[in-house]
Amino acid sequence: MSRNPRYDILFEPVRIGPVTAPNRFYCTPHALGTGNMMPHTRAAMREVRAEGGWGVVNTGYCSIHPSSDDAPLPNCRLWDDEDIRVHAMMVDAVHRHGALAGVELWHGGSGTGNRLTRMPQMSASGISSDSTYPGWINLTRSRPMDKQDIREFRRWHVDAAKRARSAGFNIVYIYAGMNFGPYQFLLPWLNKRTDEYGGSLQNRTRLTREIVEDMKEAVGQDCAIALRFSTDELLKVPSQAMESEAHEIISMLSEVPDLWDVKSSSWVRETASARFTEQGAQEPINSFVKPLTTKPVVGVGRFTSPDAMVSQVKRGILDLIGAARPSIADPFLPSKINEGREDEIRECIGCNICVSGYHDCVPVRCTQNPTMGEEWRRKWHPERIAAGDPDTSVLIVGAGPAGLECARALGQRGFAVTLAEARDELGGRVTIESTLPGLATWARVRDYRTNLIQAMGNVDIYRGSLLSAQDVIDFECDHAVIATGAGWTREILSTDGYAISGFGSDRVFTPDQVFAGAEPEGPVLIYDFDHYYMGGCLAELLRQRGCEVTIVTPANAVSAWTFMNNESVNIRERMIELGINTVFEQFLTGFKNGSAELTSIYADRSVSSRDCGSLLIVGIRQANDELFQELNSDADRLADAGVRSLRSIGDCRAPGAIAHAVYSGHECARTIDAGDSVTPIAWERPRLSL
Ligand SMILES: Cc1cc2nc3c(=O)[nH]c(=O)nc-3n(C[C@H](O)[C@H](O)[C@H](O)COP(=O)(O)O)c2cc1C
Ligand code: SF4
Repeated sequence: MSRNPRYDILFEPVRIGPVTAPNRFYCTPHALGTGNMMPHTRAAMREVRAEGGWGVVNTGYCSIHPSSDDAPLPNCRLWDDEDIRVHAMMVDAVHRHGALAGVELWHGGSGTGNRLTRMPQMSASGISSDSTYPGWINLTRSRPMDKQDIREFRRWHVDAAKRARSAGFNIVYIYAGMNFGPYQFLLPWLNKRTDEYGGSLQNRTRLTREIVEDMKEAVGQDCAIALRFSTDELLKVPSQAMESEAHEIISMLSEVPDLWDVKSSSWVRETASARFTEQGAQEPINSFVKPLTTKPVVGVGRFTSPDAMVSQVKRGILDLIGAARPSIADPFLPSKINEGREDEIRECIGCNICVSGYHDCVPVRCTQNPTMGEEWRRKWHPERIAAGDPDTSVLIVGAGPAGLECARALGQRGFAVTLAEARDELGGRVTIESTLPGLATWARVRDYRTNLIQAMGNVDIYRGSLLSAQDVIDFECDHAVIATGAGWTREILSTDGYAISGFGSDRVFTPDQVFAGAEPEGPVLIYDFDHYYMGGCLAELLRQRGCEVTIVTPANAVSAWTFMNNESVNIRERMIELGINTVFEQFLTGFKNGSAELTSIYADRSVSSRDCGSLLIVGIRQANDELFQELNSDADRLADAGVRSLRSIGDCRAPGAIAHAVYSGHECARTIDAGDSVTPIAWERPRLSL
């Protein structure tokens, strides 16, 4: 297939200072959870993007000095020459495919904890930003930088830039955004200096200008110097000369960097999930930049649609289409557009599981792309997979996210695949949950896979086919894979925090009953100890239906886990906006005659009651594994039928998030002909020379 001419503009080269990006597809800096500690994993994660057609592939934030240490979060670093080799490995991998490699030099100022290096934080005026998440609260305050500090601060950028050039990078960033070092000088509420670095906007901009100019002088012959800058906060600061200080800063520094990379100042807002923002949501804070500079501008906005990308370029908003999550979900997105295979793009669903991986300090994973983070360790390529035996038959029971991914990948491998689904529609929980408020994009998990499977001659799909164990036996397949999902239980928590059986009243519901059409009578009390999206989404749904809703949880926040994927603030705001009541730090210990008994999680175990029409328990999911258990209990029966292996996958094996189910289905497809070996083959670890 050939490229749709409509998208030609996306494949135009873009000059960036002394280098040229081969096209407009630009992986903005994003940390992938490896830091410098896992150089092979890191290089392989970046290499697949270059191979997949991204013209520029950047590192994540890269510390320039031990006084900027984000441990335990896994940032990379260029502290001394020893660090160069790690980066060179990634740069070489990116260059192998003709892409440019960029590095985001970063000093966090007061925005770091320096837990590893134990150095005091430093900032423009010793004012520290606040955090309410215990893991991010710093017990130390930053110290104001004196002139010597500023000189060193500049020198560290230059030294790191020279090391970056030695590693082979083509683009070197200064990060003057998101509440980090140089940005703190720009903000009038963080910069109270009275010297030439404080006061007027010209003075507050001085350090950023100096660093860009220093870096240009040091490495500007070979490397483009990019400036990552946050606009939204400064757009709100009035200026006498222009509409805002953001306008004025861009105008003052207009031609100083070789590239402007503009985005929001908040990690939560810039990575807002699809539940809360649409594709292109950052346009209002980006669109003012291009008219103020002749230098190329890159911006982000969870871009997965080539038409939306073309529109950004044609309307003069952006020159380069920046992406983090879309490139995680589909490292081959540019190649697919280039080859006229747009309908094969594995579109990011905006769930932010990747963000949670970074917060977990491990290589990030992705709901849509199960190979993410496994490129080196398990040698999983996002597009290629070893061919299988076309005469080997596999029966997959259940077409939810695990079953669909297993069928897709086995189909790609060439096996003779049969996929049987009890319901008439495919997708399982994804189809159901994508009807919840804000989760429509989740249907992409189903659509990407069904679209590919339906075109495969070696995959047969049977809908409305509820199979018994005997049906599986009678099918006489070589391999049977059971992917029958999981269901929500009525279990609640004891006051010790362990699951116990719940309540049998007909006023007590589970999410599955609501999905099946039950309409709990209001007011509804949702007891949520699942802590992810389900409790909050059902609260929204029931509120939309006009019910009064209260969420009770033993945690101290609604959907408490969602701090990890950057959704918690937005969820809390949505609850407030919709008038959904919240009661924290309470166990549900009784439910009788429309009254719920709540017991404090604290030692006094104080008890209170709450009237409600219905109780909806959102807590524990249990595998629907009866079919698997029956088959698994009789090895002879399987052997007699010629079934060589039986596996359960996804929620049927262990209930989890959709990401876990997709991964499990993919893993099964990769390893079905490799015995039972599902253990990763290589662990990255420090090697000591003895
Ligand atoms: C897992 C993850 C890690 C990120 N790490 C960084 C980082 O190290 N430095 C940075 O400037 N931005 C970082 N970002 C922000 C992205 O560069 C980008 O601005 C943001 O994700 C919005 O783009 P998107 O909608 O294409 O994902 C990160 C984003 C993600 C999802
Ligand atoms: S984990 Fe979710 S948000 Fe992140 S890249 Fe994958 S699909 Fe997109």
